[in-house]
Amino acid sequence: MARHIVATVDEIAPGQRRVVSVNGREIGIFNVDGEYFAVGNRCPHEGASLCKGRVVGLVEASEPGAYQYSRRGELIRCPWHGWEFDLRTGKSWCEPDRTKVRSYELKVEPGGALVEGELRAETFPVSIEKQYIVVEV
Ligand code: FES
Repeated sequence: MARHIVATVDEIAPGQRRVVSVNGREIGIFNVDGEYFAVGNRCPHEGASLCKGRVVGLVEASEPGAYQYSRRGELIRCPWHGWEFDLRTGKSWCEPDRTKVRSYELKVEPGGALVEGELRAETFPVSIEKQYIVVEV
């Protein structure tokens, strides 16, 4: 699986999102209080641009008239029919076993690590002792 640099952290502030194109796929990158999540921009219900929807929290009710609001900013509500998806997992909140939007693994890495990359030649310490170059293996 190839790695793709999609943005710098300061380009997506907390509570913001950005839709990027990677290999022909539209992917929404969301910053939820400093944590980043990536989901596909196609709603699995009827194909709306999911990432244009409102970011919301979770409302639960233990009994009529008593409700709790939690997980602020962790769900995306589709702009067409209002289905909600968990940004952490991609699962539909209504049908978690059957409906899911594609979610992608995402990492925040320092620029130096990206320049260095994963493929490196083996290196050895070199020193000069008197008139000789000495390599430690
Ligand atoms: S297309 Fe998203 S809920 Fe219908």
